[in-house]
Formats: sequence, C-alpha cells, structure tokens
Amino acid sequence: MRFEKIISALGKVDIVAEVGCDHAKLTELAFVRGLCSRAIVSDISEKCLEKARRTLKRYGDLVEYAVCDGVPEPAYKADCIMICGMGGHLIRDILSRYDGDSGLLLSPQSHSEVVRRELAVKGYRIIRDECFEADGKFYDLITAERGDMQLDMMSELYGVHWKEPNAALRRKLKIRLDNVLGGGDRTADETERIREVLRWQR
Ligand SMILES: C[S@@+](CC[C@H](N)C(=O)[O-])C[C@H]1O[C@@H](n2cnc3c(N)ncnc32)[C@H](O)[C@@H]1O
Repeated sequence: MRFEKIISALGKVDIVAEVGCDHAKLTELAFVRGLCSRAIVSDISEKCLEKARRTLKRYGDLVEYAVCDGVPEPAYKADCIMICGMGGHLIRDILSRYDGDSGLLLSPQSHSEVVRRELAVKGYRIIRDECFEADGKFYDLITAERGDMQLDMMSELYGVHWKEPNAALRRKLKIRLDNVLGGGDRTADETERIREVLRWQR
C-alpha cells in the first residue's frame, strides 16, 4: 500500500534513482508499472544493496548499483530521484549534499517540515504534497522540481496544500490535537495552528 501510493506519484521517466533503496521494492514497482526504462539504486549499506540485487536481478543491465552515503554520482543523470522511508532529518541531510537538478520524489516518515525547508533553501519548488495513511501509519509524499518557492510556516509544517481537504491529514491532526490537549507537550501555538488546519479540513 505504501509502495503503491509513492509510485502513483512517479510520472513516466527514462531513468529513476532510488537512494536508500534497501530491498528496492519501490524501484521494482516502478519497473512493473512500466514507469521507467532504467534505474540506479543505492544504499549506504552493502548488505542492503545485496537485497536490492536479488529483487532487481531480472532487470539485468538496466540497473546500476552503488554503495554510497547520499546521492551517488550516477544518479545525477536520473530524471527522478526517490528518497523514501526515512526520517525527515536524514532526507534533509542527503538533500543538503545534493547539487543536481533531477526531479525529486520524497516520502519522509517524520519531520517533513525540515524536508520542505531544505527544498526551499536548495531552490526546489514543491509540486505535490500529500499526507497519506498506510498500515496504520502516516507518511507524507512530496514531489519537487527546480524552481522558486515561498514557504510560510503553515505550509512548512502541514504541507503546501494544507487548505485542501485530505482525510489522512485530518485524521493525523485530530490524533495530534487529542494528544496535545491531553497534556504531553502541549503548546498554545501548536493547538491554535492545528485548529486552523482542521477548520479547512471539514
Ligand atoms: C527504511 S529503508 C527505506 C527503503 C525504501 N526506500 C523504502 O521506502 O521502503 C532506509 C534505507 O536507507 C539507507 N540509508 C540510511 N542512511 C543513508 C544514507 N546516508 N545514504 C544512503 N542510504 C542510507 C538504510 O541503509 C536503509 O536501507
């Protein structure tokens, strides 16, 4: 379900890259759906890359493999780089060291706000920005391309389309609101911000 959702945001491309691929199931799905003709998959861990080799064996020479911390040099020629299934701070760190122009498909598992901020700093413009739920967890799905972007605090925290109805975002924020109202790490500012988003999510 998570893989399907992420891949639904990948347009048809010639070369896709997956950074932090682990088993490379996302890239496999991109091939299966006919969305790419070649792929570059990389991971910081040789062991994880071995899993990717097994998953993608049938695609032979159509796939390049790299053990690398961050975006490997061959991925600079990709039409789209996918960085998914990691926390926002790690994705931000990887993006901060990337200076290419590929399209980006990102899916942070947490702290998406630091990813959005980094995209603005790097000169990327967010195109799609969607909270979704899969297997009882919330994720964000962000696509971006080179371009200018003005990012206000609400867009940074809740996604650039926070005023557009999204059932997963509504659910996630209702849970968060219950949590902050129940004590925990409550702040008046956050409570008011969440209420403002929820007013748009009715
Ligand atoms: C949870 S897996 C996500 C796999 C896949 N992208 C997905 O969405 O299912 C995260 C992967 O990122 C890799 N990773 C962690 N830090 C990395 C870095 N700095 N550069 C490249 N890969 C990294 C880990 O080894 C791990 O295989």
